[in-house]
Amino acid sequence: MKLKRFKNYHELSDFAAGDIANSIKSKPSLVLCLASGDTPKLTVELLVKKLKEEKIDYSKITFIGLDEWVGLPPTNTGSCHYFFQNKLIEPLQLKPSQYFLFNALADDFENECVKMDRFINDRNGIDVMLVGIGMNGHIGFNEPGAAFNNLSHVIELDEITKAVGQKYFNEQVELGKGITLGFKHLLNAKKVFMMANGSKKAEVIKKAVEGTVTESFPASIMQQHENGFILIDDEAASLLSKPH
Ligand code: GLP
Repeated sequence: MKLKRFKNYHELSDFAAGDIANSIKSKPSLVLCLASGDTPKLTVELLVKKLKEEKIDYSKITFIGLDEWVGLPPTNTGSCHYFFQNKLIEPLQLKPSQYFLFNALADDFENECVKMDRFINDRNGIDVMLVGIGMNGHIGFNEPGAAFNNLSHVIELDEITKAVGQKYFNEQVELGKGITLGFKHLLNAKKVFMMANGSKKAEVIKKAVEGTVTESFPASIMQQHENGFILIDDEAASLLSKPH
């Protein structure tokens, strides 16, 4: 795992977007997995801009959504589905065969997980994965305690996740479970970026970078990825004690 530090959110996002755009340039059939949320928002916007402006062929990429709030329709503006539909799928006019997002209204979630795992497997795994970090150290919805060898699964959300998650919604919503890719996907991904910005993420970044690798603090798994990069701005880096 390597750490890359940037002056601010824009520089960090621009780097991530540029790196992903270059990866698509060198591998047009790239399998890309992205998290939604506030952190990757600008990266996704800049990526779409770069792909179009630089006339990069993105017609063959595959896109995978990292996670979803169980029970929310895709029309809910706070859902991950809504985020990707508006920020990526529509702007790039991706065909339904090119992407897979968890169906949060599925009758059979076990089957939904099997479908996701098969979709990834059929495409020889994820090339580039970009994730954020939650205020309890989660990645996707791999909450504290989630096994490092999980594939896709449904999980009871942590109280912190339910409380912090309200920021995505216009009105109070009942959040209970999440459906998410597991850490086996992250460890198997050829390249992983975990990004964080702002002072509110400084404490979780310190634990992820300098703490013990443990399932009790999910983001610590990044230390085990040989081609993993933690991208942070100066504020998120402010509590790191060792020089990195
Ligand atoms: C959310 C999502 C994650 C996301 C994380 C951080 O609950 N499940 O996929 O990366 O929390 O979100 P944000 O970037 O908004 O801080």
